[in-house]
Amino acid sequence: MGELQRLEKLYEGKAKRVYKTNIEKQFIVEYKDDATAFNGEKKGTISNKGLINNEMSAHLFKILADAGIENHFIELLNEREMLVKSVEIIPIEVMIRNVVAGSLAKRLGLDEGTELSKTVIEFAYKSDELGDPMINDYHIDALNLATKEQLDTIKSLSIKINEVLEKYFLEKDLRLIDYKLEFGLFENRVILADEISPDTCRLWDVNTNEKLDKDRFRRDLGNVEESYIEVLRRLKA
Ligand code: C5P
Repeated sequence: MGELQRLEKLYEGKAKRVYKTNIEKQFIVEYKDDATAFNGEKKGTISNKGLINNEMSAHLFKILADAGIENHFIELLNEREMLVKSVEIIPIEVMIRNVVAGSLAKRLGLDEGTELSKTVIEFAYKSDELGDPMINDYHIDALNLATKEQLDTIKSLSIKINEVLEKYFLEKDLRLIDYKLEFGLFENRVILADEISPDTCRLWDVNTNEKLDKDRFRRDLGNVEESYIEVLRRLKA
């Protein structure tokens, strides 16, 4: 098989690049410092974000694997790159909400921080051009984005992942408010893919409710890099 080689770029998104490798069924994901918000209207960079998100995602993927939840992470290669299973991404963004915030607060006219009596799962169609529009089970079925069985698996895995992550973050004095997951197909199984980082999660300090996530960039709250570093520090403590 020989030494691992990074081959051609397969995909470039707003925060990551995915490369083919010389090894069957393995890709390399490279994390960038680029940050966007509001469907790309706000652009910038967050210093060292790529390094932090690569390390934090690896850390959380290991926690989830230990809890029996298969995901695409294989190993960290260097500061910015991880080796992953070559999943075919299902074009659905899965939003998991434990507390009202962001677009849900706006849509329903609720205060951010309002507790939800149950976890809410929402779906969006993964499309940069369309700004990831919200869809429901019927759209997913009618447009063949996933089979009914795959969607059931996505929902049950999401609930399981939420139980593990909510508890884990709380041990680190962080409230997991909401976040986005992506799943993919690997050897005909639905497995967790993409990333889990302050770019994709809302994380509030358990004592002060200080925001320690991408809302600091979206809303110009300052101390963006510092907050990302603080989250990683707590996770590794
Ligand atoms: O914007 P909204 O409130 O719907 O976001 C819900 C959660 O999903 C937030 O944690 C946000 O960071 C994440 N999200 C994401 N990528 C998107 C949309 C939302 O990571 N394209």
